[in-house]
Amino acid sequence: MWMTQRRQQLCLLLIFPAVLLLLHANPQAVEHASSKAASLAQWTRVKTMGHSEDDFASFSLVEGDDEEDESIPIAETNLLLRPSGFTIYDRLYVWNGTIYAVTLTPESYPDLKHILSQGISSDYGNIDPTSQEMQIITPMEAQKILGDTAVLVKGMTFILYDSTQFMVHYYHWWGEIILGAIRTYSALSLLPGIKAPLAAPSRFLLPNVEDDTWRDYAGVDGPLMRAAFPSASIEHMGYWSDLIQLNRTFVFERAMIVSRQAAHKNPLASLWFKMISSTMNVTAPTHFWEPLRKRVLVNTVGYLPILNDAGAVISPPKVTTHPEVSRPVVLYVSRQGGGRRLLKEAHEGLVSALKELEEEGLFEVRVVRMELLPFAKQVEEAGRAAIMVGVHGNGLTHQLWMPPSPRSTVVEIHFPKTYNHDYVMLSRNMGHKHYAVWNDTTLTFPEGQWFKGVAGGRREDAHGNSIPVHGPTVAQLIRERLMAPIP
Ligand SMILES: *[C@@H]1O[C@H](CO)[C@@H](O)[C@H](O)[C@H]1NC(C)=O
Ligand SMILES: *[C@@H]1O[C@H](CO)[C@@H](O)[C@H](O)[C@H]1NC(C)=O
Ligand SMILES: *[C@@H]1O[C@H](CO)[C@@H](O)[C@H](O)[C@H]1NC(C)=O
Ligand SMILES: *[C@@H]1O[C@H](CO)[C@@H](O)[C@H](O)[C@H]1NC(C)=O
Repeated sequence: MWMTQRRQQLCLLLIFPAVLLLLHANPQAVEHASSKAASLAQWTRVKTMGHSEDDFASFSLVEGDDEEDESIPIAETNLLLRPSGFTIYDRLYVWNGTIYAVTLTPESYPDLKHILSQGISSDYGNIDPTSQEMQIITPMEAQKILGDTAVLVKGMTFILYDSTQFMVHYYHWWGEIILGAIRTYSALSLLPGIKAPLAAPSRFLLPNVEDDTWRDYAGVDGPLMRAAFPSASIEHMGYWSDLIQLNRTFVFERAMIVSRQAAHKNPLASLWFKMISSTMNVTAPTHFWEPLRKRVLVNTVGYLPILNDAGAVISPPKVTTHPEVSRPVVLYVSRQGGGRRLLKEAHEGLVSALKELEEEGLFEVRVVRMELLPFAKQVEEAGRAAIMVGVHGNGLTHQLWMPPSPRSTVVEIHFPKTYNHDYVMLSRNMGHKHYAVWNDTTLTFPEGQWFKGVAGGRREDAHGNSIPVHGPTVAQLIRERLMAPIP
């Protein structure tokens, strides 16, 4: 009743009053009259655009100019790349909350455990997938389960099939989920028969995440996603349940399923203990991250810092703090406000060794505590640095925004004899040279070689507040990196 009155009011405003008589007499006429009203409202515009009078729709329901139907026949899924936990498909189906791949050769697919897990925290114990999460079925089975046609969801969809357990962290989100996904997606461009350039991501689906609970405590993941993917939507559990309500089969034109638990099933993950490990074995274009890095810089900071061969920011010129002479920036990301940190004397020794070298005019040193800076400023500091120094920790995730070059270097201070692969893996993806520092000893490994194993050490040492570092050792390393001839 209420709707009818609303429509009548709308009509009153829009159409010739004589029609009103009809409206009151015949409820069916309301429908007819209101669509007529819409068409009248558009008539002028449509007419001047040179379209026919019958062209009433104000927008097209299909993307682009093609007349492709949104319902398409069910056809075989094409598995394109398959590193554990980062699998990509053309035509991936969803019905009743379950993901389906349709294939004549189910045996050619990886074990489900390498594709995804149950979408709950691993604190529950074994969360290996069941037929509820995903099924690999034949076209015959598909006809029974999925029907003949599916609603097409166009573009590139990233299905992040995890709970929030590890998501809510800058390093885990950007350094593993997104970096691993983009590395693998970029690798697609090297496959024969794949149309280049690849489409920008259309959407990120988080079927196991309620609302905004994927966001990190530091509040950087969200803004960075909007900067990197301004046209992509981020959808949660509600999207999944909407599809279930519709009781229709949906098909994602191209999709990647990302799953932490599945990624960890890869043998490489037991070498480096990182979700992203399996993707390191995927050949990606060398500078696969650059387009995204540049976009994040421009959309966050407002400009793209350009560095010269010496590692100095040369453009835009106005922003350099030493306008008379542009020198490379050495960014020391201090953790002295956090739990895991340097001994007080070690921090002071490091700062004074860096300052001494700065006096020589070799570089400009910036000591920052990221958590005290506004978000855009953090990205700007990283985006202008040639060298980043810091204690093992989340702040080093900012190397994702540091410009890669033959000089770009990450110096990661570990408690002596302990070693983690988190940030060396980022450096290798970025093209930064990575050094671990154990007080007065530096460790680095050429391409293809790695520190053997993971040295956790005693927790109170590795994650304590008494990490030593010999400042002059770090200063000497930086001198060498900045003075060395460019290969
Ligand atoms: C749809 O999924 C629910 C679980 O979410 C399951 O209980 C139900 O049996 C499924 N329906 C069919 C027809 O398979
Ligand atoms: C879903 O669709 C199928 C096939 O079209 C139909 O048999 C079934 O009854 C529907 N289920 C619900 C809950 O509407
Ligand atoms: C890495 O890739 C090579 C060839 O592409 C393959 O032979 C090897 O098994 C892979 N290693 C792992 C651990 O997946
Ligand atoms: C760190 O290295 C310096 C210089 O070699 C040395 O004097 C100092 O004792 C070392 N500290 C620790 C804790 O090993």
